[in-house]
Amino acid sequence: MHLKLSFCLILYTAVALEAQPSLRTIAVPQPTNVNQYIANRAALTLLGKALFWDMQLGSDGRTACATCHFHAGADHRSQHQLVSPLNRSLTSSDFPFHALSDPTNNNSTVLRNNSSIYGSAGVFRRKFTAINFSNGTDDGYDLADIASFSLDGLNLRQVTARNAPSVINAVFNARNFWDGRATNLFNGNNPFGAADSAATVLAYRNGQLRSEKVSSTNASLASQAVGPPTNNVEMSYDGLNWPTLGQRMLTLRPLANQRVAADDSVFGPFVSSSAKGLNPSITYGSLVQEAFAPEYWQALEGRDGFSQAEANFALFFGLALQQYQSTLVSDDSPFDRFASGDTGAMTQQQINGLNLFRGRAECNTCHSGSEFTAASIGALLNNPGRGGPPNAGPDTGFFRTGVSPRDADLGLGGVDGFGNPLSRNPNAPNVQGAFKTPGLRNIEFTGPYFHNGGQASLEQVVEFYNRGGDFPAGGLGPNVRRLNLSANDRASLVAFMKALSDDRVKFQRAPFDHPELCVPNGHTNTAQTTDARFTLSADENWVAIPATGKAGTDAPLQTFAEMLDGIGNDGSRANHLSQACPASPAN
Ligand code: HEC
Ligand code: HEC
Repeated sequence: MHLKLSFCLILYTAVALEAQPSLRTIAVPQPTNVNQYIANRAALTLLGKALFWDMQLGSDGRTACATCHFHAGADHRSQHQLVSPLNRSLTSSDFPFHALSDPTNNNSTVLRNNSSIYGSAGVFRRKFTAINFSNGTDDGYDLADIASFSLDGLNLRQVTARNAPSVINAVFNARNFWDGRATNLFNGNNPFGAADSAATVLAYRNGQLRSEKVSSTNASLASQAVGPPTNNVEMSYDGLNWPTLGQRMLTLRPLANQRVAADDSVFGPFVSSSAKGLNPSITYGSLVQEAFAPEYWQALEGRDGFSQAEANFALFFGLALQQYQSTLVSDDSPFDRFASGDTGAMTQQQINGLNLFRGRAECNTCHSGSEFTAASIGALLNNPGRGGPPNAGPDTGFFRTGVSPRDADLGLGGVDGFGNPLSRNPNAPNVQGAFKTPGLRNIEFTGPYFHNGGQASLEQVVEFYNRGGDFPAGGLGPNVRRLNLSANDRASLVAFMKALSDDRVKFQRAPFDHPELCVPNGHTNTAQTTDARFTLSADENWVAIPATGKAGTDAPLQTFAEMLDGIGNDGSRANHLSQACPASPAN
């Protein structure tokens, strides 16, 4: 009897493993048609990592990509992250946004229906005027923001309309953003790929400057990266364009205002002896010259009064960010070890959870493959049907799960910057309100969950699926239905999802180590900034995310639920947001 049982278990496991092998078995996707641009891959990785973590990138000189992606690749801030109410300091009683008297029944009495969004605080609403070469930031002035992000007569930072997903493993996504608008094909200029037929870069050959098209597939991270830096909610003052951003950045010393660990896995040999930023001999201009072929930067006269390097800055930026983020692959979780044959790598409860995930709960209908999402390049190239119609082809892995009312956010049912539908089949059922299925790796640390950030914990997410979603009206993707899971089943599913965490992410070790970062975490909304240039801006709280070297930290990352409950502020968790900035950025 005993023998027979364990035999069955082994057989079942073998079948299941075929479906979701270790991520190590999946080649990291490489963008096509980029060899003519790239001269040195190592320099490109370094350039990309510096640009990602550098607070100088934002117009205000204090907003990095990492400001919204510092914690297991996602955002972890606790104050002024909601679209409304403004400047709220979040507590566990804010979650889930949609609370029911019976969490197993989506028809039971609604106790709370908060239609807000946990987004990410970006920049103040300001108009760009000119580059300020003396301090390396942009000059600008406050625009009245009475309607959206204004409180007591003062402007607050604007908050994005969706929750920030993790950048870790995003290289496997066929398209990026929740609605897929960062296209698979990179055009060297903006996120919209082939839809922008006018997008070109400048090439200098045989003494002549020519406009060329860029057409690189598997390059959704490059498409994505050229969105935020000139976006007037996320990073820039209104009216900034790419060549102007290039003009400012190319003169700057990377990470000049941030500490960098001497043993950083990428920056180590180049860290300045002053311990802030990279060596004085290095500028973004010198890194671009090292990383890219001279045909793309050598002409002093480019276009519209900008040098060739400035005119092509979006191309360099996109490819550098694609390259750096393609090193952010977490393929060494207990699950990956288990899937490679180390049967002791997961606990029995986690194995039970895995069997539910692929069995009765059918989570892997959408969270499929080693990437745990059918929105992967692998699904697009090798098995286009994996997502199932209508979510096949470029719409692979986009589904509606009923997180919010269908028309609250159309997701894949929306249009790109040129008015073209994001979906290949815009009129197919279930396209409206469909979102990209997220991969679930390191999910333990990337709360709150869903495109609206409305669930604080994995327990809450599993309860959501157990009741068949919150807003089924309008149609749901396959297998989102009442699951009738027992408390034991639900605990097993949660335990299994925690087996998808990679210790290198959890302890911020290489390649997930990083420079110091200061992030704004809410406003002192009664006070104005002391900066005379910005008379409408509210003062704010700045907190430190300390630098880690390649060996990482002793303390594990704080989870979102722990943060809400104040667990780990004694230093037993990393990034607990109660550490002051060593050098609080001057206003
Ligand atoms: C103000 C906060 C903020 C900043 C700054 C920011 N992001 Fe994001 N990021 C977001 C949000 C919010 C989303 C989701 C937006 C959506 O899907 O509509 C996102 C999405 C992404 C994604 C897509 C991941 C996925 O699974 O779809 C990547 C990759 C990414 N950001 C990288 C970057 C890079 C690179 C930069 C800097 C150039 C950057 N972000 C700057 C908030 C930010
Ligand atoms: C029909 C396809 C589908 C099925 C089935 C499905 N998911 Fe999802 N999952 C999605 C999509 C799409 C999202 C994003 C939804 C949104 O934000 O609106 C998501 C989001 C999530 C998230 C949050 C991820 C994040 O980064 O915020 C978790 C966790 C999750 N799913 C776990 C599960 C589990 C566990 C099951 C099985 C009980 C399951 N999913 C079943 C498609 C699916």
